[in-house]
Amino acid sequence: MLSEEIVEKIRKEVGKYPVPKAAVKSALRYAQEERGWVDDQVVRDVAEVLNLEPIEVQEVATFYDLFYTHPVGRHQLRVCTNISCMLCGSDSVVDYLHEKLGISPGETTADGRFTLVEVECLGACGGAPVMMVGNQYHENRDPGRIDGILAELEAVAE
Ligand code: FES
Repeated sequence: MLSEEIVEKIRKEVGKYPVPKAAVKSALRYAQEERGWVDDQVVRDVAEVLNLEPIEVQEVATFYDLFYTHPVGRHQLRVCTNISCMLCGSDSVVDYLHEKLGISPGETTADGRFTLVEVECLGACGGAPVMMVGNQYHENRDPGRIDGILAELEAVAE
């Protein structure tokens, strides 16, 4: 079950929209922040709070790549590989992270710290190549500037 705090946040979110279904994305975001990823139980719990059918929640959870429908590491390294970022070197960012962490896109390190994800345009093309970690954007990333980000994350990973 979702915590009372999350249920309350979801109920407040519903009040912002004309229909509860419009609050699904926000509800899933809150639930994922608490549970780490969106499993079947989260889908059922969110549906129950919003008084929707679980499929109405599931279809949103599986459409947006911001929602993880499988377990992920404590830090998700989301590297945009769409056209602007690709032209500015996102492949070298992915390759560097692959070599540094020993994981390919879609995989999680054995210690559960990092998951590497290739994503579509993050809407910050002017800062390509872009990597998103948590809610923070890191623009103009090149492999040489990634070590600092990883070091910061490792410092808070425990
Ligand atoms: S193409 Fe990477 S942010 Fe738009």
